[in-house]
Amino acid sequence: MQLSRRTMLTSMAAMAIVPSWSFAAEPPRILLAYYSYTGNTRSVAEKLRAHVGAQLFEIRMADPYPSDIRKAAERSRYELETGTLPALLGDPPDVSDYDLILVGGPVWWNTVATPIMSFLERTDFRGRSVGLFATYALTPSHYESNFAAQAHNAFFLPGLMINEFDLANGRAGDAIDSWGIRTGSTGRANTL
Ligand SMILES: Cc1cc2nc3c(=O)[nH]c(=O)nc-3n(C[C@H](O)[C@H](O)[C@H](O)COP(=O)(O)O)c2cc1C
Repeated sequence: MQLSRRTMLTSMAAMAIVPSWSFAAEPPRILLAYYSYTGNTRSVAEKLRAHVGAQLFEIRMADPYPSDIRKAAERSRYELETGTLPALLGDPPDVSDYDLILVGGPVWWNTVATPIMSFLERTDFRGRSVGLFATYALTPSHYESNFAAQAHNAFFLPGLMINEFDLANGRAGDAIDSWGIRTGSTGRANTL
């Protein structure tokens, strides 16, 4: 059978965004790593986990930010401006054990929150599929592009950006559910 040029191009385009593990018989092994300061990203991570049989990993800091949000903001701003990223508690998990890594965090200062930067600095994704998700108050701003620039050797899936007010008002459920399913928790073919 001879395929038309259009069919071939369409198939090639689809293949380009279907991660290799989606053809495997076994469901993918998924790591869901997140950092959350006020709980929004944690809530998204927990909702996602309901869809994906993931190993949850909370990114924690050796010296956590103070609970006073103004002091936390001051410190994170200083870290960002001086490039002194916060030390994490313990080692990040070994990504070799997973097919897909989901990484969630808040937008801080129009970019990736500094604890996520620390996590990325210490992680080599070794060609694994990576899906990023983030929560924000006003705008996702440069989160996705800055995350991509700092993630070593990642094969990116489309990200999920959630507004905190949508989350609080129950308007983010569909986006979270469908992203969780599309990222391949069930091992079914992905059409991201
Ligand atoms: C230090 C700090 C900086 C922030 N900067 C931004 C920002 O630049 N843009 C934005 O939309 N939201 C910003 N936010 C709001 C958070 O992104 C938002 O509240 C997010 O949902 C918090 O996630 P978390 O509860 O998981 O920590 C900032 C919050 C903090 C504490």
